[in-house]
Amino acid sequence: MLLSAALTLPLVASVLGQAASYAPRLVDCPTESLIERTGSPLDGSQSLQADEAAYITTRRSQVLPPLWTTYLANDTGYNVSQLMIEEPKLGIATSGGGLRASLYGAGTIAALDSRNETNLGGLLQLAEYTAGLSGGSWAVSSFAMNDLPTTYDLVLGQNGQTGWLLDMDILAPGGILGFGDNDDYYDILTEDVRAKAQAGFPVSLVDIWGRGLSMHFFNGTTESDFFDTNSLHDQGLLWSSIRYTQNFQSHAQPFPIVVSTSRVSMEEQITGNSSTVIPLRNTVFEFTPYTFGSFDHTLSARIPLTFLGTYLNNGTAVNSSACVNDFDNAGFVIGTSAALFNAVQNEFSSDTFTNLISTLLSDITDIQTVDYAVPLVSNILNSFFGFVPEGQGSAPFESNNNTVLEVTDGGENGENVPLGPLLVKARELDIILAIDASADTDFFWPNGTSLLATAERTRDYSANYTSFPRIPESPDEFVAQGLTTRPTFFGCNITTNGNVSAPGAYPIIVYMPNAPPPSGSGYLTNTSTFKLNYDPEDVVSFLDAAHVNGMKGFETGDETSDPQWPLALKCATVDRARTRAGVARSEVCDSLMNKYCWSDGVAEILTNYTASTGGNLGDNSNGGGTSGASSLSALSLSAVAGLVVATGMMLMA
Ligand SMILES: *[C@@H]1O[C@H](CO)[C@@H](O)[C@H](O)[C@H]1NC(C)=O
Ligand SMILES: *[C@@H]1O[C@H](CO)[C@@H](O)[C@H](O)[C@H]1NC(C)=O
Ligand SMILES: *[C@@H]1O[C@H](CO)[C@@H](O)[C@H](O)[C@H]1NC(C)=O
Ligand SMILES: *[C@@H]1O[C@H](CO)[C@@H](O)[C@H](O)[C@H]1NC(C)=O
Ligand SMILES: *[C@@H]1O[C@H](CO)[C@@H](O)[C@H](O)[C@H]1NC(C)=O
Ligand SMILES: *[C@@H]1O[C@H](CO)[C@@H](O)[C@H](O)[C@H]1NC(C)=O
Ligand SMILES: *[C@@H]1O[C@H](CO)[C@@H](O)[C@H](O)[C@H]1NC(C)=O
Ligand SMILES: *[C@@H]1O[C@H](CO)[C@@H](O)[C@H](O)[C@H]1NC(C)=O
Ligand SMILES: *[C@@H]1O[C@H](CO)[C@@H](O)[C@H](O)[C@H]1NC(C)=O
Ligand SMILES: *[C@@H]1O[C@H](CO)[C@@H](O)[C@H](O)[C@H]1NC(C)=O
Ligand SMILES: *[C@@H]1O[C@H](CO)[C@@H](O)[C@H](O)[C@H]1NC(C)=O
Ligand SMILES: *[C@@H]1O[C@H](CO)[C@@H](O)[C@H](O)[C@H]1NC(C)=O
Repeated sequence: MLLSAALTLPLVASVLGQAASYAPRLVDCPTESLIERTGSPLDGSQSLQADEAAYITTRRSQVLPPLWTTYLANDTGYNVSQLMIEEPKLGIATSGGGLRASLYGAGTIAALDSRNETNLGGLLQLAEYTAGLSGGSWAVSSFAMNDLPTTYDLVLGQNGQTGWLLDMDILAPGGILGFGDNDDYYDILTEDVRAKAQAGFPVSLVDIWGRGLSMHFFNGTTESDFFDTNSLHDQGLLWSSIRYTQNFQSHAQPFPIVVSTSRVSMEEQITGNSSTVIPLRNTVFEFTPYTFGSFDHTLSARIPLTFLGTYLNNGTAVNSSACVNDFDNAGFVIGTSAALFNAVQNEFSSDTFTNLISTLLSDITDIQTVDYAVPLVSNILNSFFGFVPEGQGSAPFESNNNTVLEVTDGGENGENVPLGPLLVKARELDIILAIDASADTDFFWPNGTSLLATAERTRDYSANYTSFPRIPESPDEFVAQGLTTRPTFFGCNITTNGNVSAPGAYPIIVYMPNAPPPSGSGYLTNTSTFKLNYDPEDVVSFLDAAHVNGMKGFETGDETSDPQWPLALKCATVDRARTRAGVARSEVCDSLMNKYCWSDGVAEILTNYTASTGGNLGDNSNGGGTSGASSLSALSLSAVAGLVVATGMMLMA
């Protein structure tokens, strides 16, 4: 009896966090309003959504204290119990940049993970938040959905993990000539997307892309069933299922956030004056395990993630039995954060390309989507139609006339490191590790472009909502001062007694750029954004190189690493808590902070030092990809065009 009960149970109970298929479904609307305003830091009303607040409070009070005590045990020169009056608060941001960024993010996380024998201190375990964007969102989501395994287990598929299937190309997993296998792959993807379209929801190329990413990053697909058209391949896996993982249930993992940006229309994108695809002023959206929305003053609102894709007019459902569930498909969410297909529209400046894609979708794949679907961007029925944010006079939310909210790759506004959600005053973070694997230079290294975009956005569009420390004025300065070759702390000092939520107060930003190996030789991690497959040996070399880069610090002379870097990072991590406790910097922390903190005062010293050492700009690229300069941090337009065309060709195959 027991046995048969156990066998029947799973058939009766639906699996938490799993939908029956890729298609969302209609449900009755709840009686309470789906839209919740986030409030404003200007009048002290800004607040976290209740479940997030409960998660963070429990993590802060029950999980983190002993970890902080261990982390801070010996060497900072502080009396730890004095500092702990109000504990440090840490966030980690992982940039976009395709698989390069996923691997760089994962390799850097190995350096932050107390479970690895070589680490900087368990900062992964201590973090309250992790934010990921585009390729970074693939890593952040994969860690969270697989219940926070170690980097090497997660990526290489050890110890019961299925691994990231990176030797299978994302566009042509069967190989360039593997027509049969590729056909099966696209059959699997389009079948699922067709089900969503047939259920009446708008779909685009992003849905197909997201399904492909699921098969590579989530654990419902293995090498052996990859081309099996009868396997489910996580088609019903919801991003909100993160809530049901053990580490989330026990508040043992950082609260994950995925970042996307939005545009009003193709016309806005093409006729805008921005040097980026999407204007910096546009609303940046965040997906959390509980919500979808934005703390930006242009929206200041959110909906429950479970009701993503529900159309509301001025906050009200037009049909009270047509609210939407299961729209937050895990692949769709990470595909949305990496939805870069629209970037080619600027390049072509014509409808030709858009029409081509629509034709591909409808004729070639047989998918007939609703006529108001918008090609090339992620289509999310707009819960903020007719919405007017509070405190903005009569200025409505910019996309308030759109039936479909047009969501795109988070990096398309130039902010390729997802700092925005971590700068939100209500989240109170003291320190943010900014892991940057953008391809800014001709050789696919970052050069500070993303931080400069965040500084500009904060100054011009987000005054008093968020604050950002002073950084150099230009990428040229980042490069000349060597800030692209080693970690740097920005904003070490504030004048608000350590209160990071006060107007003008900011967290310390630890810039951790993807950089050439310290010894000058070794695996080069500046692969192309459009390298869409990696051999297993390359994956190991890449992770190892990123791990080493994370550990190295500011190496001087003949050193290949600074043995005091972990301690310097510890000093920065506790520095706001130290200020709050009214304790002076210890001698050792003062000296290490002076080494790693950037200010106008040290710019010239750093420039001279960098010039004298010849810099280490790594002006060589790691083959395996297209080359060519990019005017965007995240993407190379011609390569995106290639990507879309390649996808189209695969669909035709
Ligand atoms: C603290 O110091 C003790 C004794 O020197 C050492 O065994 C321990 O590993 C140190 N702890 C940390 C967290 O560094
Ligand atoms: C550390 O601070 C606590 C709390 O202020 C105090 O009770 C303790 O005596 C201090 N320890 C040392 C070694 O100074
Ligand atoms: C720690 O990192 C090294 C590479 O630097 C890796 O080989 C090893 O497997 C990692 N250990 C664990 C426990 O993940
Ligand atoms: C995938 O990961 C989740 C979360 O750890 C786990 O519950 C599930 O059993 C895993 N599935 C497979 C097929 O390994
Ligand atoms: C672009 O700049 C011109 C001239 O400064 C201005 O008139 C126009 O409104 C701007 N367009 C957009 C979309 O910002
Ligand atoms: C939108 O809803 C608010 C309150 O729910 C109401 O005050 C306002 O008049 C509505 N606006 C329109 C244009 O209907
Ligand atoms: C409301 O939605 C339900 C579920 O889709 C549908 O059956 C019904 O026809 C809709 N009612 C109206 C008035 O559109
Ligand atoms: C949306 O349309 C209304 C009515 O035409 C207009 O008043 C409003 O300004 C428009 N909103 C935006 C953001 O353009
Ligand atoms: C920095 O990157 C931008 C692209 O984001 C590029 O236009 C610029 O030339 C680069 N500058 C340096 C100094 O590398
Ligand atoms: C920002 O805050 C400052 C000082 O509190 C105030 O003077 C200024 O008006 C505020 N700016 C905005 C846009 O609210
Ligand atoms: C920050 O304050 C410390 C101690 O007050 C001082 O020594 C240091 O120069 C300041 N650093 C910056 C970057 O202003
Ligand atoms: C930097 O180098 C220039 C040129 O050699 C020199 O004039 C200047 O004094 C140096 N600055 C510092 C802070 O060392």
